[in-house]
Amino acid sequence: MNQTRRKRRPDSSLSRLDSLSPEMLFPAKSPSLTSSRIRNIFLLLIFCFIIYIIFSYGTNFRREQISSIARSLSVFSTRRRHLLFSIAASHDSWLRRSSYVRLWYSPESTRAVVFLDRGGLESDLTLPPVIVSKDVSRFPYNFPGGLRSAIRVARVVKETVDRGDKDVRWFVFGDDDTVFFVDNLVTVLSKYDHRKWFYVGSNSEFYDQNVRYSFDMAFGGGGFAISASLAKVLAKVLDSCLMRYSHMYGSDSRIFSCVAELGVTLTHEPGFHQIDVRGNIFGLLCAHPLSPLVSLHHLDAVDPFFPKRNRTESVAHLIGAASFDSGRILQQSVCYDSLNTVTVSVVWGYAVQVYEGNKLLPDLLTLQKTFSTWRRGSGVQSNYMFSTREYPRDPCGRPLVFFLDSVGSDGTEGTWSNYNIHRVGHCHRAEAVERLERIRVLSPKLERNVEQMGLPRRQCCDISSPYNKSMVINIRQCMPDELIAMNT
Ligand SMILES: *[C@@H]1O[C@H](CO)[C@@H](O)[C@H](O)[C@H]1NC(C)=O
Ligand SMILES: *[C@@H]1O[C@H](CO)[C@@H](O)[C@H](O)[C@H]1NC(C)=O
Repeated sequence: MNQTRRKRRPDSSLSRLDSLSPEMLFPAKSPSLTSSRIRNIFLLLIFCFIIYIIFSYGTNFRREQISSIARSLSVFSTRRRHLLFSIAASHDSWLRRSSYVRLWYSPESTRAVVFLDRGGLESDLTLPPVIVSKDVSRFPYNFPGGLRSAIRVARVVKETVDRGDKDVRWFVFGDDDTVFFVDNLVTVLSKYDHRKWFYVGSNSEFYDQNVRYSFDMAFGGGGFAISASLAKVLAKVLDSCLMRYSHMYGSDSRIFSCVAELGVTLTHEPGFHQIDVRGNIFGLLCAHPLSPLVSLHHLDAVDPFFPKRNRTESVAHLIGAASFDSGRILQQSVCYDSLNTVTVSVVWGYAVQVYEGNKLLPDLLTLQKTFSTWRRGSGVQSNYMFSTREYPRDPCGRPLVFFLDSVGSDGTEGTWSNYNIHRVGHCHRAEAVERLERIRVLSPKLERNVEQMGLPRRQCCDISSPYNKSMVINIRQCMPDELIAMNT
């Protein structure tokens, strides 16, 4: 028994110095020592191989060949600089909406260009460089009542690729009212091999929009990404598609049709958000899927989603939180206080909801219908692509809601975030929660490697008791067989 345990000690190299140690008897059996030796030898061999290749081919060795070897090694993974963003805008909309782009674009670390219908704007170094789209009057457009600009916007794909920027792995397209969470997009795209053909995005939240366009179309405003290898081919053939699909409404339908003709289908990534809803998107933001938040769109059609902040400030506040722990933004954890029968849902970086009573997890993962339909008018049905539950009209029928106030780093690998109560109406609340004003959430940084991306698991949390005016919540990994439920 004793020996077995000793053999498993990870650091056997230290004990080898001790000539009397029992490990001396089993030096070769130490699994960690052997495997680390093999790994070192292996790494050395790879290094020698690369040096050999470079020297043996000399200066004639083509850069592409080096980079193809480099890409096949996992250490050369996709980074921010491998993404080129292309924003479709018009001269008039750009004046108003560039304030959204300024929030996620950084001149030092984001590669992006903006396509406008005409020039004449002063250059602004805090925004991506502006390009005036080429003339597209030769292409037909005959969707009744539609906008010809759809052709220009679709052709942004070709004009971006034709620029020939170096070292682009993914071409990303969006509108000027699309807000990207760039680091999360990098994480998501790292799952896929940019040397193969990929068309990555998401469809509309509004069922009827998908019926009208396609369930397999990446809706343009939510943003979509095309791998460099597919983009190069698409750029070559796009003009012929633009002739063939003149009867379609939008730019995204044109891209979708042309990609479909190349035999490629959409890779759905639920972090892209077209936001085809109006009004209050609290319910939508509070039930985000486990995948990282990649984009938000249609910000002018929705209410500011933080109290006492306008739209731009609301987005800035969310992006500010994401800068501390990008992977965790909008990720939902639920924990229970079984002593007082209280259920807490934390949506990191945005809001915390405190429910009186024992709420079952599946109910809390269902979207609260705080918003209204995208299309207005009688006969419009509110069918969504997810299950919803009613949001009580009476504020006293709703949970207590706390909105993000501030976020900070705890100096090591974690963050703290504070949420302040947002009182609506005079409601009678249970004794345990009636004085609550503030919630502080402590969490480790959510690191996701490529393996975890495929099978994410919701994290658990604990409520530190007792609490009175302020509550402290710790988020952590769940234990292997831990259930997210109240201990009863
Ligand atoms: C939002 O608030 C900021 C700062 O208070 C202000 O500069 C900006 O003009 C406001 N935006 C809108 C659309 O009102
Ligand atoms: C909670 O706070 C209130 C107001 O500060 C105080 O009167 C009360 O005694 C506190 N309750 C507990 C259980 O600490």
